[in-house]
Amino acid sequence: MKTKLLKINPFDIDLNKINIAADIIKLGGLVVFPTETVYGLGANALNEKAARKIYEAKGRPSDNPLIMHFDKLEKIKDYVYITKELYEKIKVFVPGPITFVLKRKNIVPDIITANMDTVAVRIPAHPIANKLIEMSGVPIAAPSANLSGKPSPTIAEHVIEDMLGRVDTIIDGGNVDFGLESTVIDLTEETPSILRPGPITPEKLKEVFGEIKIPEFIYGKAKVDIAKAPGMKYRHYAPDKKTILVEYSRDRINIIKEKIKNYKNPLLVLFEEDKVYFNEYDIIVSGRENDYYKIAVNLFSILRNADKTNNDVIIIEGVEDKGLGISIMNRLRKASTEIWGE
Ligand code: TXA
Ligand code: MG
Repeated sequence: MKTKLLKINPFDIDLNKINIAADIIKLGGLVVFPTETVYGLGANALNEKAARKIYEAKGRPSDNPLIMHFDKLEKIKDYVYITKELYEKIKVFVPGPITFVLKRKNIVPDIITANMDTVAVRIPAHPIANKLIEMSGVPIAAPSANLSGKPSPTIAEHVIEDMLGRVDTIIDGGNVDFGLESTVIDLTEETPSILRPGPITPEKLKEVFGEIKIPEFIYGKAKVDIAKAPGMKYRHYAPDKKTILVEYSRDRINIIKEKIKNYKNPLLVLFEEDKVYFNEYDIIVSGRENDYYKIAVNLFSILRNADKTNNDVIIIEGVEDKGLGISIMNRLRKASTEIWGE
């Protein structure tokens, strides 16, 4: 398949180019587009054949359901059951980097939900994503646009690496805003629970929903509830190389200094402040210790870049399990093959 590349400036959108991409969606093709979280691999969510192509292009297991993306919140009402009260609450976060799991209506194709009785819906806050959905005239099913198991793409170069020849069109819309996939929250029970931590933190969710559940598997400390969060059982975001995560603690520098001696050619991913202790090693800087936004937005690029060096092992410094740090650590624990300082 020949992949067409469309470069679009998100601040000055060329509607002719969006129109080309929207036509491909309408015809049942695949379009990669930027969102505020990561790049998505989109198809017409109401066309079963088109949605099936997403699984093929990514090499994604068929038991892992897709998110339906809408340009306007009110449109979800045709596809999910939702009370007035809950609708008012979710409005607060829309558009934005959050996905709601709700009871589905029959009109939603089974291929989207992997035969579950719920469906995930999201209204992205990105001008290109929104225009594309609007001009396509249908909801767009879109997982992250990486090959299954790889880190999600946060720049078009990552998409090209993974998807060239596998999709009809790639829209290059520059950098994303957050660099971590949307927060996924299950709203099918009395108390909402987080299925995937993301840019919208538990504190923000509590302000609107009151009590919320954060299952232990979010912290990598328990088995995933496969019936509720089918996508979280896979080793995601993973470099091919051996990848070691160092849990955040006051002792972390000493732990690294001691254990790193066992490796011939390690690559360290460190906060800027901690570089000084490891001058003799290869280092990638992952942002400042207390700037979790900067760490998040570069995280997947760093994992991809670290995988391309000739170092034999990647050692990554972790952050604290608080706020956005919970989401960063969720991804890093999934990416790593070994954890130090647990
Ligand atoms: O930020 C994002 O959410 C990006 C952009 C492109 O919107 N999309 C994304 O999609 O990350 P994906 O497919 O890579 O991750 C969606 C997650 C998976 O873990 C999947 O298992 C879960 O959402 N999910 C989808 N439908 C679900 C459902 N009905 N119940 C529970 N989890 C569901
Ligand atoms: Mg994904």
